[in-house]
Amino acid sequence: MFIPSSVQPLRLAPSILSADFSRLGEEVRAIEAGGADLVHFDVMDNHYVPNLTIGPLVCQAIRPHVGIPIDVHLMVEPVDALIPQFAKAGANIISFHPEASRHVDRTLALIREHGCQAGLALNPATPLAWLDQVMERLDMVLLMSVNPGFGGQVFIPSTLAKLRQVRQRLDAYADTTGRRIWLEVDGGVKVDNIAAIVAAGADTCVAGSAVFGAPDADGGYRGVLRALRQQVPQSA
Ligand code: DX5
Ligand code: ZN
Repeated sequence: MFIPSSVQPLRLAPSILSADFSRLGEEVRAIEAGGADLVHFDVMDNHYVPNLTIGPLVCQAIRPHVGIPIDVHLMVEPVDALIPQFAKAGANIISFHPEASRHVDRTLALIREHGCQAGLALNPATPLAWLDQVMERLDMVLLMSVNPGFGGQVFIPSTLAKLRQVRQRLDAYADTTGRRIWLEVDGGVKVDNIAAIVAAGADTCVAGSAVFGAPDADGGYRGVLRALRQQVPQSA
């Protein structure tokens, strides 16, 4: 027996891409205090995506500031050499884009060998066929609802139909194996669309600009995290 997706708790993963980098320790402490479930950590290399962000040193620097898991989203090519570095820096979940790895099965295995949970990140135009042969290696599917590279973009509506398809696959897999794979959606998640996103099957929502763009009067993020949860009745 497993719990149907409709009663899975919603996990909120603020993306620190939109945080104030000059006060990153304070920012990650504030999202944890506000009720965040994960820290979403966007790694961009100016090669796989046209932007350049943060690496293992920054992951290591924020690790002591939070107890919640760090959810590393690698938008880099090649992928493999960074996995041991992020594992050592305290990452808990590591996701990558299959187009960026020569050997997807090997990269997924490498993530678990380093003690982390493994995720596959699919761009809006990336077909779900990438999931077919690797389900047993996966702990999370990260569905991009914008093209990767920047925060603050608009949610692509066709992601909802794609989410429903992934939800069906993951529920069928859980039915036969008893193992639940998380389904995270990333890009353009806001207070006014999170209900539809969760109804379509997401159990984990990344939100960058929606969270860090709406601080409380004291600089915390309790209000916006509560507002996001309140849109999703079973998780409020
Ligand atoms: C985009 C990143 C996202 C991004 C989300 O490439 O992977 O995690 O920071 O930001 P918002 O919520 O602002 O779309
Ligand atoms: Zn991301």
